[in-house]
Parts: sequence; structure tokens; C-alpha cells
Amino acid sequence: PEPMSVCRDVIALEPGNVIVPREFLDIAYQIYNFEIRSDDVFVVTFPKSGTTWAQEMIWQITHHCDFEGGKVNLGARSPFLELPMLIPDHKLMPMVPKEKLLQAKRILELARSMPSPRVIKSHLPICFQPPNLLNRCKVVYLARTPKDCCVSYYHHEQLVPIHGYEGDFKSYASWFKRGQLLYGDYWFHLSEAVSRQGHPNLKIIWYEQMKKDLPGVLQETCTWLEQPLSDWSLKELVQHLSFDRFKSNSAVNNAALTNPKTGQCFIRRGKIGDWKNHFDTETSLEWDDWIQEKKREFKINNLF
Ligand code: A3P
Repeated sequence: PEPMSVCRDVIALEPGNVIVPREFLDIAYQIYNFEIRSDDVFVVTFPKSGTTWAQEMIWQITHHCDFEGGKVNLGARSPFLELPMLIPDHKLMPMVPKEKLLQAKRILELARSMPSPRVIKSHLPICFQPPNLLNRCKVVYLARTPKDCCVSYYHHEQLVPIHGYEGDFKSYASWFKRGQLLYGDYWFHLSEAVSRQGHPNLKIIWYEQMKKDLPGVLQETCTWLEQPLSDWSLKELVQHLSFDRFKSNSAVNNAALTNPKTGQCFIRRGKIGDWKNHFDTETSLEWDDWIQEKKREFKINNLF
């Protein structure tokens, strides 16, 4: 059994051997020429790093904690730049109404017509974003430690019907380690952000940091975005972003992505260290060596 990235018609982009569906070629030109506004904020992540959480955080900060407006589905408030490449033939996705699929295909048009400030989500590494992105607007890069990221990706690929991964975790982990899942190699993706660290328009946030000290991350991010929030709003936002509230918030926890058999949904466990429930000792030790080696190679020893 193979993950979707391998079943579908995919291509590997240079640099980095970044794996994307062939449909990327249909939108590459539009992404390259996507008109950036100076007050845009891009949320760029490797999949399953807590993208949705960070997106909602940034959307709320830039919209002065508009909890009423935040009841609209996050996908409509904060467009997913390369979504059209992920929407396959309708036959493969019969559970999604055709109009919705067409809407998703038109996401770039929607993004172009949206009022400022826009919060734009993308999983493409920074080198595949519109050129000079960092000199043109602010970018939040959210990262997550690789073992938990892999576990979350594994569940995601079981959950989403078009992915439908049926293999075991051990095999999945080896796909991840070889960089053969959609969006390719975890380390290449991370290094694309880390190598730009220090740019005033880039803020790297770790999922683990948000888990340990959400109020602290919020304060720092508000300062960086130059969007101060009152103490009351900050408190409300911490509540709004808490795991339990997030899980019951249908604007962010996409109900279409619930597995009818297991009841598992998109906002799954939200824990640090869930890898301990998935990795066997052999794979874990193998990954520890791999992680140390990659941290040295990409000079990110101090990060986690
Ligand atoms: P788990 O699968 O480990 O639970 P993404 O949005 O990039 O797809 O990331 C999804 C991951 O972020 C999932 O991880 C999800 O549970 C977690 N997540 C989403 N909202 C969260 C929140 N409010 N608090 C903690 N984790 C959250």
C-alpha cells in the first residue's frame, strides 16, 4: 500500500526534489505571478505542523479578534494558495459536491479579489513561493518536530478519502524519511526557512512552543505584526485557540474530514510526543540518528 503521493501522477521539482501532483504545472505560472500586497501574511508550513492553528491565530490577530467573522469557514477566510493542484478528478472525490470542487479550483481568483489584510496558507517551500516573497510581505513559518509531524501526516493520509493510506505506520515512516510524501523532504522544507532566519519579515514559530506557551507566542507575534491586542482580547484569543475549543469549532475542524468508521476528525490529538504511541524502538533509534545527522547537516542544532 502506498501513500497518495506515490499513487497519483506526481512530479519532483528542483531544488529539493519537492513532490507535487502534476497539476502543479497548471498553476505554477499563476503562483509565480500572484500579486503580493505588503500587508499580506503568508503562513508557510510542511503539512501537519499545525498550519490550521497558526492560520487562525494570524487571521484573528490581523482582524482584531473578530470572533463573529471567524465563524466563516477558515478555508474561505484564508485561501490555500496551491489548493487547485490537490483537487483531483471529481470521480476520485465523489463525496465532495461538484460546486465545492469548482470553488476550490478558483481559489487563486478568490484570493486575488479578497480585501486586505489577507492571510494566505501554503505548504510549498519558500523557494517555490512567489519570488522575493520575504521582501514583499510578512511570512510565518510554522515548524514541528519530525516524529510527531510524521505521525500526524500518517493519520491525515488515513483520514482523507482521496489519500486513503492503508499500510502500517512503520512503512509510512520510511516514506516520510525518504522524502517521498507530498511536498517532499521535511529537512529541505525546514532549511528553506531556517536559512533565511533573521530576515525581519520572517517569523519561525515551533508547534511545540505554541503548545508550551501560547500567550507568550501570541504576544511576540502581535509585536512582530505590529498589531497590538488588549489584555482582554489576548485572553479571549488564548481560549479560542485552545485545543478543545478548536476541536468543537466547525469553522476550523472540517466536518467533511471525519472518518465515519472511527469518528476521528481533522483536529486529532494535538499533543507533543504522540510519536511514542507509534514508533517501535528500532525505528525510533534509527530516526534519532537520522535527526542528529540532519540537524548537523542543516546547522539547526539549536532548534530542538
Ligand atoms: P495531530 O494529528 O498530532 O493531532 P495541520 O493544520 O498542519 O494539518 O496540522 C494538524 C495538527 O495540528 C494536528 O496534529 C492537530 O490536532 C493539531 N492542532 C490543530 N489545532 C490545534 C490546537 N488548537 N492545539 C493543538 N494542536 C492543534
